[in-house]
Amino acid sequence: MPRPDYVAAIDQGTTSSRCIVFDQAGHIVSVAQREHRQIFPRPGWVEHDAAEIWQAVQGVLADALGGLDGQIAALGITNQRETTVLWDRATGQPVCPAIVWQDTRTAPLTHALAEHEQLFKEKAGLPLTTYFSGPKIRWLLDEHPGLRERAERGEVLFGTMDSWLLWNLTGRHITDVTNASRTMLMNIHTLAWDEELLAALDVPRAMLPEIRPSAEIYGRTRGGFPVASALGDQQAALFGQTCFAPGETKSTYGSGSFLLMNTGHEPVVSKHGLLTTVGYQIGDTPATYALEGAIAVTGSLVQWLRDNLGLISSAAEIETLAKTVDDNGGCYFVPAFSGLFAPHWRSDARGVIAGLTGFVTKGHIARAVLEATAWQTREVVDAMNADSGLDLTTLRADGGMTANNLLMQTLADVLAVPVIRPMVSETTALGAAYAAGLATGYWPDIDSLRANWHKAAEWRPAIDETAREQEYRNWKKAVARTLDWVE
Ligand code: G3P
Repeated sequence: MPRPDYVAAIDQGTTSSRCIVFDQAGHIVSVAQREHRQIFPRPGWVEHDAAEIWQAVQGVLADALGGLDGQIAALGITNQRETTVLWDRATGQPVCPAIVWQDTRTAPLTHALAEHEQLFKEKAGLPLTTYFSGPKIRWLLDEHPGLRERAERGEVLFGTMDSWLLWNLTGRHITDVTNASRTMLMNIHTLAWDEELLAALDVPRAMLPEIRPSAEIYGRTRGGFPVASALGDQQAALFGQTCFAPGETKSTYGSGSFLLMNTGHEPVVSKHGLLTTVGYQIGDTPATYALEGAIAVTGSLVQWLRDNLGLISSAAEIETLAKTVDDNGGCYFVPAFSGLFAPHWRSDARGVIAGLTGFVTKGHIARAVLEATAWQTREVVDAMNADSGLDLTTLRADGGMTANNLLMQTLADVLAVPVIRPMVSETTALGAAYAAGLATGYWPDIDSLRANWHKAAEWRPAIDETAREQEYRNWKKAVARTLDWVE
């Protein structure tokens, strides 16, 4: 039988689901995309409908794979992380809305758990914040009468989006080690659910999926091809950017932005507000770890400008609008919509636009919106340099926002290092495809993946040190104004 030609990946993201088909050189063969609703029931709350997402995923699978029957070697999954789905084992239906990673409703709960802060840091590698799944599960079990008892009996199951899709695609209740590392329930040293963490969050063991490596054959789709990888989207991008060696770093610009550095086979505990996370685990090889700087709001600020303020009619228009002016006009926008993530971890923060005068136009606001992504990246790069003792020398950037050339130049300017965009900027889906292709022998080894990485464009710093540092000081003053907002 001739060898199948392609590998497909589902990228289940915060705002949309995509299916992308790749060939052996890592080139895109076909793409399908569907958006799903963002549900904001109250300030600080963000929900998704997991059933709607499964519908969207089935739709993009059908669209992207149409006409490729018999030519798919494997399917990989990558997903928005931490978002928490609970469903009924018997009916397969969600029992409540999914709580999205950006949601801050668990702030009081995380404060009440403060005595366990050190435990979470040491065993889960994570700060005690609203971001991760554990507090979201606890909130749902506390708030919905009868749910805890059903979860204890194993009738109600928990999963992040990978797990929800794997359940629907293969019938198995499993998750991968990278997604499990975002729950606050997995011990990152043993890669197993940890009784002490479960007890601290009061989450029943019976509702949790089995933890598996990121690449192995989990099962088969109804179409008959193997489902062979699952990785959280940021870990998948690390893999897709072929950051296989310790020190190699990427930054992905989606609804949020996430800078990850490969730290090899040992978890490194951050002293500067970064997360310790599992990067990937291929089959039964040892896991590779990463340090991560997670920024909650970057691309979603551009969407907010479009959807909530109507200042632009498409996300791409932000570049044109920002180019109508030469600078930010003294204006700084700190989008602390979900509190502030790395390196601050302040759930009490809320967004501000600082430095407003009568001079400021919508062009200046657009520029401040793009600069917000760059300055937030600078903060996590500073933390990464301090934690690793190494200075970042180049930034490998990917994700939808990297199509914005003004943003890429601004990033180079504020980081004072060259910024590089690879040929395939869809590195998240590519990483999931690579892992699935390794698990099924479509690609022989990671060296064959490295050979697929090619630089497409590079931006070099073009502002002087004095101007850069003055702007950074202004940015930090604006950040200080976001704090202590929520009491
Ligand atoms: O941790 C959240 C992250 O996985 C979401 O990624 O690309 O959907 O914003 P994205």
